[in-house]
Amino acid sequence: MQAKIRRTFAIISHPDAGKTTLTEKLLLFGGAIQMAGSVKGRKAARHATSDWMALEKERGISVTSSVMQFPYEDKIVNLLDTPGHADFGEDTYRVLTAVDSALMVIDVAKGVEERTIKLMEVCRMRNTPIMTFINKLDREGKDPIELIDEVESVLGIQCAPITWPIGMGPRLKGVVHLLTGEVHLFESGRNFTRQDSTIFPSLDDPGVLDAIGQNMLDEVREQLELVEGATNPFDMEAYLRGEQTPVTFGSAVNNFGVQLLLDFFVEHAPMPQARETTTRKVDPTENKLTGFVFKIQANMDPQHRDRVAFMRICSGKFTAGMKAFHPRVGKEIKLANALTFMASDREIAQDAFPGDVIGIHNHGTIAIGDTFTEGENLAFTGIPNFAPELFRRARLRDPLKLKQLQKGLAQLSEEGATQFFKPMMSNDLILGAVGMLQFDVVAYRLKDEYGVDALFENVNVATARWVRCDDPKKLEEFVNKNALNLANDAAGELVYLAPTRVNLNLTQERHPEVQFLATREHA
Ligand code: G4P
Repeated sequence: MQAKIRRTFAIISHPDAGKTTLTEKLLLFGGAIQMAGSVKGRKAARHATSDWMALEKERGISVTSSVMQFPYEDKIVNLLDTPGHADFGEDTYRVLTAVDSALMVIDVAKGVEERTIKLMEVCRMRNTPIMTFINKLDREGKDPIELIDEVESVLGIQCAPITWPIGMGPRLKGVVHLLTGEVHLFESGRNFTRQDSTIFPSLDDPGVLDAIGQNMLDEVREQLELVEGATNPFDMEAYLRGEQTPVTFGSAVNNFGVQLLLDFFVEHAPMPQARETTTRKVDPTENKLTGFVFKIQANMDPQHRDRVAFMRICSGKFTAGMKAFHPRVGKEIKLANALTFMASDREIAQDAFPGDVIGIHNHGTIAIGDTFTEGENLAFTGIPNFAPELFRRARLRDPLKLKQLQKGLAQLSEEGATQFFKPMMSNDLILGAVGMLQFDVVAYRLKDEYGVDALFENVNVATARWVRCDDPKKLEEFVNKNALNLANDAAGELVYLAPTRVNLNLTQERHPEVQFLATREHA
């Protein structure tokens, strides 16, 4: 069964913890790339192919995400990359809705950092199972027991160490696998494969004493006793419920601990899970195709100026050229020339299965959150749009470019690069963002891709709430009274743009029958 062998995950980390390096090493061990440096090379090549990406290069951030698929052992692994910069949180959140588990990378010296905390919160919302990799063991860092305490207290998740370091920094000798008892030695310049590593069956093996010396051996034994008393044993069910995280240690740049991690990951990480829709739960073993779009990316290929919608398959099977029903629009579309994302390159997809991601060419009819089925009228839930906290009014230097501006803003908001609001009572175009940098990216792309020179001015909006009301009469009353502060978002949904938080509170009090939502679920 194809769904059973899929492992779809994303890496969450604070910038610089080693996500890119670890991604590259996972691909190396998965046989998807031949040479270290290829992922960074690919990053650079992508920068070169699209001008606006020069912006991300300038700022040393990665705005785009991609999907990498590779086989490992008897499994097919799908790694969904998440953008690194805090301002692009929304995009990251949506990627996390499309995975079945996450891998958290922590820098041994820095411990739990701010962005990890935020990403972890998102995983908690959906009880996503999380594995932890403590990286950069070749450097002096925090005491591993303290680090485990820190993860438990700051992130509120129980830790179950799977491996334990023998020394650290210049004294790093290896790790002990707590489940198998094996000792894996750290050997600089080696450790590319199991064959290329020195592995002893247990700490009692005489070879270990030779390799690490009596003092270190005593130290490790003492530590392991402590670890046993102070930490929890691995509990598969608790991990799958998102209550416990198995922890491994290593040094990605040195390949060390990566294969142990990958072996543990493919064995324990969950297969594609059942998912909620507006009408029922969809099981990955169902025969008919379902899937949802979690990301739209423009101009991946500057030659074609295409926009690609990334669809996560939830059940059934995708076959090249098949037709799928698009419930939001009520039409069938042909999924021609869909792309798969083998780590080596983008290719035309022949088949894809639950857990896989395919790229569909989009000419503006597909939006983030859209569901595709083989005829059934349902929509996957839980793909959020967050209320922006920063607002600007778009103003044109050349008023004749209004049409291009509207088109550009509509497309960029469809991709989730910004949110875009049209007030009911004025002709303003208001942009909303979760982070400041989003405005820079939008300005840059408007100029580069749409030939529009736009300025962004301050506007008197403090926060936005999506408005819902079951009673059409009451809704009409509310709209009539508050038209000055109401707008439509790019999808045509009603939004209250509050000039101040106090105003928002007052309006909420005055209209208890109206719901003011801080996230809009795409449904
Ligand atoms: P990110 O994607 O999470 O932002 O991190 P990235 O992999 O780019 O790694 C950030 C820096 O940490 C890089 O150094 C990388 O080489 C280094 N690094 C990753 N893993 C390890 C490790 O196990 N040990 C040590 N000591 N360093 C590690 P850089 O100087 O920023 O880049 P580069 O010049 O090395 O490419």
